[in-house]
Amino acid sequence: AWTTGNVIEEQLERIRAQVGEGSAICALSGGVDSAVAAALVQRAIGDRLTCVYVNHGLMRQDESAQIEKAFGESTGGAKLVMVDAEQQFLDALAGVTDPETKRKIIGREFIRTFERAQADILREQGVVEGEGAEAHAEQKAFLVQGTLYPDVVESGGGDGAANIKSHHNVGGLPEDLAFELVEPLRALFKDEVRAVGTQLGLPDDIVWRQPFPGPGLGIRIIGEVTRERLDILRQADAIARAELTAAGLDRTIWQCPVVLLADVRSVGVQGDGRTYGHPVVLRPVTSDDAMTADWAKVPYDVLSRISTRITNEVSEINRVTLDITSKPPGTIEWE
Ligand code: XMP
Repeated sequence: AWTTGNVIEEQLERIRAQVGEGSAICALSGGVDSAVAAALVQRAIGDRLTCVYVNHGLMRQDESAQIEKAFGESTGGAKLVMVDAEQQFLDALAGVTDPETKRKIIGREFIRTFERAQADILREQGVVEGEGAEAHAEQKAFLVQGTLYPDVVESGGGDGAANIKSHHNVGGLPEDLAFELVEPLRALFKDEVRAVGTQLGLPDDIVWRQPFPGPGLGIRIIGEVTRERLDILRQADAIARAELTAAGLDRTIWQCPVVLLADVRSVGVQGDGRTYGHPVVLRPVTSDDAMTADWAKVPYDVLSRISTRITNEVSEINRVTLDITSKPPGTIEWE
């Protein structure tokens, strides 16, 4: 029978068998999946695990700092390396508007960053070129990812499944991947991962964190991703999240992407002046596993506060719209 205890025991054994005496790095995103994956691997191999958090510049307001702070609690003192790769990702995304191309670029840049981090870690451990570097080069490099079953299915990895979109950690991986993947959650759904996280003693604010996609705000800007557009979206997103939290809706709503239609403008009026700004789309959904979803019936007064605040506080945005499409036919994210 499926119990969280069985899953944990089975995965600990598998991880130990796979990694052996080797060491691993874990791609930490701040979300529940990678935190649970990290906690499992830490239990299995202890301090031979180093977690790596990449700030790709596509995170939400203050998010990187919060993740660094929450990290200690969630993984029982595993090692953490923070990498600032904002410019690298923005350069790689310059001029790109196609959703799948964005996803593949972000997946590739993640891996390149992990490869550099892995090389730095080996150097710090004293494995410099010449001194045992060859022996180390022969050793496998393990990369832990919090990939879930729905990520695999939607990236076309399930039996006969169509590629809906390439999740950054599955279909978005480069072909010349130098890492062997360790993916202890690959057979699980989100609710099961949350149960495992709770059983492992992770704090509620990690276990119940709403999903946020690895490619971040990069796939919530419809059009080219630029720093200026990211800053606009970050402000709107922070307002929507603050109001939904204040209304006590964090557990009712699966997640609420805020999407910037960066290439669309519409005419508005504010004070006595004409505006010609961008719309944002609110995409609140309810779901059990993200495979299907319904649009969330957020109370009008909450929607009204979000709309008023965004158009008052973010000068580039003059229209707030609501996405009332289920999945299917829509997906949760717009790209
Ligand atoms: P869609 O848009 O496919 O999203 O309905 C389903 C769930 O997956 C999240 N999502 C991702 N998560 N990497 C992730 O880690 C990705 O590339 C990715 N794309 C979508 C999305 O936020 C939703 O919860």
